[in-house]
Amino acid sequence: MNEILKADLHLHTAEDRSENIEHDAYRLLDEAHRQGFDVISITNHDTFTFNRKLSDYASKLEILLLPGVELTVEGRHVLILGDLSGVRQVKQLKDLYKLKRAETLLIAPHPFFPASRGLGKSLFACLDLFDVLEYCHCYTRLINFNRLAVSVAEKEGLPMASFSDSHMLWQFGRSYSLLLGERSPEGVFSALRGGAVQMVTSPLDPLALIRTIKWIVPGLAGKLLDNTLKRRSRKQAVPEFTETILDSRNSG
Ligand SMILES: [Fe+2]
Repeated sequence: MNEILKADLHLHTAEDRSENIEHDAYRLLDEAHRQGFDVISITNHDTFTFNRKLSDYASKLEILLLPGVELTVEGRHVLILGDLSGVRQVKQLKDLYKLKRAETLLIAPHPFFPASRGLGKSLFACLDLFDVLEYCHCYTRLINFNRLAVSVAEKEGLPMASFSDSHMLWQFGRSYSLLLGERSPEGVFSALRGGAVQMVTSPLDPLALIRTIKWIVPGLAGKLLDNTLKRRSRKQAVPEFTETILDSRNSG
């Protein structure tokens, strides 16, 4: 049975070891429940944050939790949802074609945002790979790097969906998508692929903009310093896969 599903499929939690995030996966689910979300996916960087216990906890809250990951491939970020088998073997963008199947959804997150590891120009060489382009939450009325993604999506007939890419709980719920579909992985993917999506998003208000700047600037400075040190020490920045053990709360 089709229903309107409130969905956010790009979310980060404390289990993401590459980020300094306060809330864990259970706390995020509690907040998702409070805000009336029907479907979410925890897409930590190069980290699987999904197991039966967490999925059962989500079910008790009447939330469909989809397995997900934000994978770093050739230095670019790609969202992979659903069946994640084969993800560990992906080394190059072309390897992602092996994951192109009904039970796996591929999303290009924040594709043209600077300093966020979006695909940028690389997207044009593999547009047929992606089911959905993301309309990123981080924009103002004056500065909006989503505009190019919108024109690409319109030209190529690709669906767009808005998600929050939340690293902090105050970001969660500011941008999401309403899907018309069945409450199942297949139903959600079918709604997204078919464009049965209504984006609910608005430019950052002044307070959110200040908070975003306070969040982004130290993080960017740290990453720039980190990258410089890595270059100097000639270490290669190859992301390491981790499997999160979610036992930070007794879900009963
Ligand atoms: Fe992200």
